[in-house]
Amino acid sequence: MALRKIVCIEDELLRKKSRPVDKFDEKLHRLLDDMAETMYHANGCGLAAPQVAVLRRVVVMDCGDGLIEMVNPEILETEGEQDGPEGCLSVPGRRGMVKRPMKVRARFQDRNGEWYEIEGEELLARCIMHETDHLDGRMYVDIMSREIFEDEDADAAEDEQ
Ligand code: NI
Repeated sequence: MALRKIVCIEDELLRKKSRPVDKFDEKLHRLLDDMAETMYHANGCGLAAPQVAVLRRVVVMDCGDGLIEMVNPEILETEGEQDGPEGCLSVPGRRGMVKRPMKVRARFQDRNGEWYEIEGEELLARCIMHETDHLDGRMYVDIMSREIFEDEDADAAEDEQ
């Protein structure tokens, strides 16, 4: 495994649409391993492949219940609404308030191409939406209602994605 460099918000790559994965091979497995290592090293709870300069539909997440790898994720259904703080490993030092669905149901493939479904609530729902947005070139800063500043309530701190 190896750490990969995380690209920052100024990079055009983050604005591009990522292509689906069609080969579930060694190269994909190496990408997933590297992305997990890079995410944990940066203390993040999610990382999408475009953030490490790979325009493929690949995401890793860990919202406290262990590593989730999602290849070719698709949002199937959303429900409710939550408003809360969000950060991004590609937007260091900044946070913003972002409205997201309270519940999300999605499907995705694992590293071997098997399809699964996942249901997430609260932070996991937020994370699924944030990471799948990256695959379509969308950033949370586009949809945040306002920036959160350092001197605000420490409770506003949330894991970076
Ligand atoms: Ni992000």
